[in-house]
Amino acid sequence: MNEISSIGTPGEDLIEPVIVPVEAYVSKHYARAEQDRLWRKVWLQAARLEDIPHVGDFVTYDILEDSVIIMRTGPDELSAYHNVCPHRGRRLIDTPAGQRNARGNRKSIICGFHGWTFDRQGQCTFANHADDWQGKLTAQRTALGKVSVDSWGGWAWINLDPDCGPLTEYLGVVPDMLDPFGLQNMRYRWRKWIIFDCNWKVAMEAFSETYHVQTTHPEFNAFGEFRGWARKHGLHTNIGYEAPKNMDENQAKLRIGSGEDPRLSTAEMQLFTWENANTNTTMTLVAAAQRLKDELPEGTPAPQVLQHWLATARADDEKRGVFWPLVEPAHTAKSGTAWQIFPNFQIGHAVNNMLCYSARPYGADPDKCIFEAAVYELFPEAETPATEWEYTSAEQWPPVLQQDFTNMQAVQQGMKNVGFRGTQPNPYMERAVASLHYNLSRYMGTGAPKPLD
Ligand code: FES
Ligand SMILES: [Fe+2]
Repeated sequence: MNEISSIGTPGEDLIEPVIVPVEAYVSKHYARAEQDRLWRKVWLQAARLEDIPHVGDFVTYDILEDSVIIMRTGPDELSAYHNVCPHRGRRLIDTPAGQRNARGNRKSIICGFHGWTFDRQGQCTFANHADDWQGKLTAQRTALGKVSVDSWGGWAWINLDPDCGPLTEYLGVVPDMLDPFGLQNMRYRWRKWIIFDCNWKVAMEAFSETYHVQTTHPEFNAFGEFRGWARKHGLHTNIGYEAPKNMDENQAKLRIGSGEDPRLSTAEMQLFTWENANTNTTMTLVAAAQRLKDELPEGTPAPQVLQHWLATARADDEKRGVFWPLVEPAHTAKSGTAWQIFPNFQIGHAVNNMLCYSARPYGADPDKCIFEAAVYELFPEAETPATEWEYTSAEQWPPVLQQDFTNMQAVQQGMKNVGFRGTQPNPYMERAVASLHYNLSRYMGTGAPKPLD
């Protein structure tokens, strides 16, 4: 990590209440500084490997003014290049109008301006009239600029900093916590993107805490109260739910309803979640939940309902060739329901599905961001759906996500109000918000949370 100023306060684990200044959300100067101090320094989740399965497959990834080509250059080899021609700077691969990124397969990349041509290793194989440069046009001068790239969890990650450390070091405890869930085996079920009128941090923070659920998603209150926590792990954080009495296993994303009859409240919660969020569950789980009332007698204690529901759904999936990994209950509880990977990626994991969010700036305007959500599932290979990034207007997203969206622009507006004193995240449930700003301040040199006195 570069340009770290020593902050000292508050405590590293952010257990104490803090106040976060609004600068990071609304300042044009801060937004401009992010390009050099943040986005060109951190590891960024830039592509899913399933989008580049064959040698020569590529996708582009844009972050502010930088654009990167991520290409599979061998069965087990990824390469990433700055998406710019070394001759006179034409962007090499254009993003088709209206699309999130370019994607395709190339044996070579030919610049559309004067025809310089590059092989998959980034070497220039053709420059018209190269002799005119009087021998000075060396391989080094004509090769594409390399970008650091690595993979984890089924994603390609890039880092624009030529002096960056390894991805595994950057991810810290995250692989240990999430590898048992086999995230790399999951495939997209749907993926959507949209441009929001809010800062990228506002968009990420709308999903990094469970404190809002009771008010923003009141329909879920019918299925019981789930008290959420957030914990800091260096750069990253995770969130989860506390175990209800005698039910340590019910802390995962796949948890039962805590209504009077857990058979019925689980069935209702699953159906509601499928229909209104279209994520955080699978058709197999929904169907198994609907059968609980027929397969279990009235009065079955909650732990048995959970156990039966998951065991029958697991068996149903196995019959169609979908195998959930086995994760120790204690590990599941510790891993929680979602991880916030600094700075802008959230992984909401389970053994058979996941929901991931990311947000990045849209130009230098602090009031705009590109927001993305992707839902993944384990599929039998032959049934894996073909998906693309789909630009979707807010009213066409699942209703539960629309509820989240309604807060975002209003938060962005509210934070500019002269009377707003700063963000005061809940120290227990919204610690991921405080942590984001604590870590941002170490890259940005400003905006550190201050202890509340
Ligand atoms: S800018 Fe690419 S060949 Fe001239
Ligand atoms: Fe929400």
